[in-house]
Amino acid sequence: MCGIVGYIGHRDAFPIVIKGLQRLEYRGYDSAGIALFDGNNINLSKTKGKVEDLKDKSKEISLAGTLGIGHTRWATHGVPNDVNSHPHYSNSGDLVIIHNGIIENYESIKKALQNRDYTFKSDTDTEVLVNLIEEVQKTEGVKLGKAVQIALNQVVGAYAIAVFDKKKPDEIVVAKLGSPLAIGVGEDEFFIASDASPFIEFTNNAIYLEDEEMAIVRLGKEIKLRKIKNDAVAYPNILELQMNLEEIEKGGYDHFMLKEIYEQPRAIMDTYRGRLLADQGIIRMAGIDQNIEKFVNANRIIIVACGTSWHAGLVAEYIFEDLARIPVEVEYASEFRYRNPVITDKDVLIAISQSGETADTLAAIKLAKEKGAFVFGVCNVVGSSIARESDAGAYTHAGPEIGVASTKAFTTQITVLTLIALKLAKEKGEFSGSKFHEYLTELETIPAKVEKALKSNDLVETVAEVYKDSTNCLYLGRGYNFPVALEGALKLKEISYIHAEGYPAAEMKHGPIALIDEQMPVFVIATKKGHYEKVVSNIQEIKSRKGKIIAIVTEGDVQVKELADHVIEIPETLESLTPLLTTIPLQLLSYHIAVMRNCNVDQPRNLAKSVTVE
Ligand code: M6R
Repeated sequence: MCGIVGYIGHRDAFPIVIKGLQRLEYRGYDSAGIALFDGNNINLSKTKGKVEDLKDKSKEISLAGTLGIGHTRWATHGVPNDVNSHPHYSNSGDLVIIHNGIIENYESIKKALQNRDYTFKSDTDTEVLVNLIEEVQKTEGVKLGKAVQIALNQVVGAYAIAVFDKKKPDEIVVAKLGSPLAIGVGEDEFFIASDASPFIEFTNNAIYLEDEEMAIVRLGKEIKLRKIKNDAVAYPNILELQMNLEEIEKGGYDHFMLKEIYEQPRAIMDTYRGRLLADQGIIRMAGIDQNIEKFVNANRIIIVACGTSWHAGLVAEYIFEDLARIPVEVEYASEFRYRNPVITDKDVLIAISQSGETADTLAAIKLAKEKGAFVFGVCNVVGSSIARESDAGAYTHAGPEIGVASTKAFTTQITVLTLIALKLAKEKGEFSGSKFHEYLTELETIPAKVEKALKSNDLVETVAEVYKDSTNCLYLGRGYNFPVALEGALKLKEISYIHAEGYPAAEMKHGPIALIDEQMPVFVIATKKGHYEKVVSNIQEIKSRKGKIIAIVTEGDVQVKELADHVIEIPETLESLTPLLTTIPLQLLSYHIAVMRNCNVDQPRNLAKSVTVE
């Protein structure tokens, strides 16, 4: 959470930092700030609110300067207000810092500094850190880089920081532990950011800092990395970025979420491109091929993830057990890491994460590795912490997902996990050649079928109009579509702030059915191949209690049409692939309801795209 941006070079820093903050706003957006250095003075502006508010407020300061740092915040310590916004000054006014992360032992450090007459304007842990750096500078008589290193060895927590010193106008010091930090390397200029999006139009060359690394980014000098703990020199790996500008802009859509929903046919195809060779009857995935014995001989697969990625993990549980006959457990990463789980070296842990930065998932991986499990990462963001920490992995290749509500990440995660399950099923001899072929060819038809499912948009909009003022909603599904019901409910609550719950349809009669009355919309996934008759009975139970039924059905359905208030059709496919289609109208529905309720679709309240704190 929180996005950081920095620039040092020959251009005006202000527009670069502001634009960069706008691109990183998905990481947190309760306040924003900027500090510019013109060679003599530091000019600082910060405010509660969005980067757009910061842009307005910055009119009050001089915008000159070729060195600048900026921050967009998701509050951890201290409420979102102007004072708690970053950047933060040190007491002398010489040092300025931006920080993404949490300093856990900040209170004891703060007390020690207060005893040495330091004063604090904000309630933040970050202001404590910048003053600790200043105190080290003074007491040890060292320059900024060394002071940062000594100070960081005294703190407990997570950070990606950028700090500069008025007395050293040609450098910014950066460091990372637990939160991401990339350095864009241009000609006589450097960019610093939480991900590469702020500098993609300036350079394709990026260095991603590893945990416990720091760098002095100095004009006219090559970047040298150092290990924070022992000062050892580390050699930077300069990566060539594949991202392009179009991918991170809205491209004519009103919201990133809508653009990302519509990108799904292309994204799913990109996910299986080069991997799914249906005509040859092959699935090629290097990360699996090289570790096939580990998967095939695994006692079980443990899947860890959070939020939408956890829902993709639940779908995968059905696919792995159904097709590959490997036992699977799906765990919330946040629970798994703290419950002393039994893990052995015969376990394979699959970590699913769009961002590859989710703190709980990362911690779950570290725990599993310590206990000897083989860790396989399914991430979207290339070079992310989870991708690097895993023993092997597969990228989803969905392209940047910027809307806070995950959409294409979900369907591409399911696509990757389906490929893996099919590959393992084949390897284990669970499939006949013709059944395997049927799956491969059907998977190839999914992008076109998603395209068709997207055609329900107008109908979904009319349904949204009817239910936009509801205060509660239920989502029901069975089998492969139970996780889709959970995901549908999550999408609605996070962007429209309507209370929604997902349930396995048959669980209704064990409690939730008491909620049904004429005010309760119930979204039911009732596709032909997924326990259809049973779901029809569940629909009847709701109908007899006057609940409103909105059903997602297979094209040409007759039975549910007679019972439901609204039906939305999706094309027919194999049962295990239905989640890739049934989720589409539910995504559109949440989107339209949120727009109709004037909610901020891409940046829902209290949320952030990348949850890098636990
Ligand atoms: O980046 P990750 O996939 O690890 O993120 C996990 C969750 O934070 C994320 O899926 C969250 O639930 C989304 N806002 C859901 O739309």
